[in-house]
Amino acid sequence: MYVITGATGNTGSEVAKKLLAAGGQVRVVGRSAQRLGPLVKKGAEAFVADITDAGALTKAFSGAKGVYAMIPPDVSSPDVLAHYQRVGEALATAIEKSGIKYAVVLSSVGADKPDKTGPVVGLYNFEKKLSAIPSLNALYLRPAGFMENLLFQIGVIKGFGTMAGPVKGDLRIPMIATRDIGDAAADALLQLNFQGKSARELQGARDITNTEAAKTIGAAIGKADLTYKQMPAAQLKPGFMQMGMSSNMADLLLELADAQNSGHLKALEPRSAKNTTPTTLETFAAEVFAPAYRGQKAANA
Ligand SMILES: NC(=O)c1ccc[n+]([C@@H]2O[C@H](COP(=O)([O-])OP(=O)(O)OC[C@H]3O[C@@H](n4cnc5c(N)ncnc54)[C@H](OP(=O)(O)O)[C@@H]3O)[C@@H](O)[C@H]2O)c1
Repeated sequence: MYVITGATGNTGSEVAKKLLAAGGQVRVVGRSAQRLGPLVKKGAEAFVADITDAGALTKAFSGAKGVYAMIPPDVSSPDVLAHYQRVGEALATAIEKSGIKYAVVLSSVGADKPDKTGPVVGLYNFEKKLSAIPSLNALYLRPAGFMENLLFQIGVIKGFGTMAGPVKGDLRIPMIATRDIGDAAADALLQLNFQGKSARELQGARDITNTEAAKTIGAAIGKADLTYKQMPAAQLKPGFMQMGMSSNMADLLLELADAQNSGHLKALEPRSAKNTTPTTLETFAAEVFAPAYRGQKAANA
């Protein structure tokens, strides 16, 4: 049996669906039985628990051969890294107490760095915490920035007619669709062929600039002249907070962008067949972004 945390989310839902499709026995963890319902219909067992409740998670993990462990974001937290700390502690305690032997862990590119990477510092700390559990085999998946982050541009495009953000328009960076992370995590859980502690980067289909991303997104939504504008932090922060982020989260995101712009945060591995994943930005734009822009459900939902 496998246990999936964040099972109704972007990555967790894909992991759960793929394991179920492969005939696996799957326990899905989330805060709401109703939201877990669609996975239960596909054969999963629902386990309602809060991700900060180490006791409940210990029960959820007991008897499982592998877990997909992720820290759900809390963008409204006044202290986002304290949130990562709290959740990381609960997950690590549950992993240790339940005696589970294998964890596939959602981390991030940049989790090799102890500081100045915004929220990714929380994932650096999470990896360190899990690495201190001697009996655990942990695979730290370190994906690039999610293509799904582009969905925040929908309001910007509708309001201002451009895409905008803190990252340089001409900076070539990897971007990944979350479905590819789910696939990689599910494959790792099915094979359980990792030993000790190891990290694996997932770099998406190719490196891309935000200027190119705007062209691709524009083509998919019928705005061929869509552009991307890098904007100063002071102008972006109020916009981030209007979207529901705390001041602390907005500051951390701006620190993350600085780390990308300066090259402090970057993928460590040269691109290879092993860290390249299939979904292109063109596919994401057609199947996820464009339907969301038009207010429809994504094609693969
Ligand atoms: N965005 C990026 O570019 C990027 C890049 C690298 C890594 N990451 C990492 O990816 C994470 C996000 O992954 P994702 O997109 O798969 O997540 P997501 O779609 O935001 O899903 C979060 C999941 O966690 C569950 N959840 C939220 N709060 C919970 C709580 N208190 N107790 C139990 N369950 C809770 C939610 O389910 P319910 O609401 O149903 O409970 C949901 O299923 C980030 O936190 C970050 O660490 C992000």
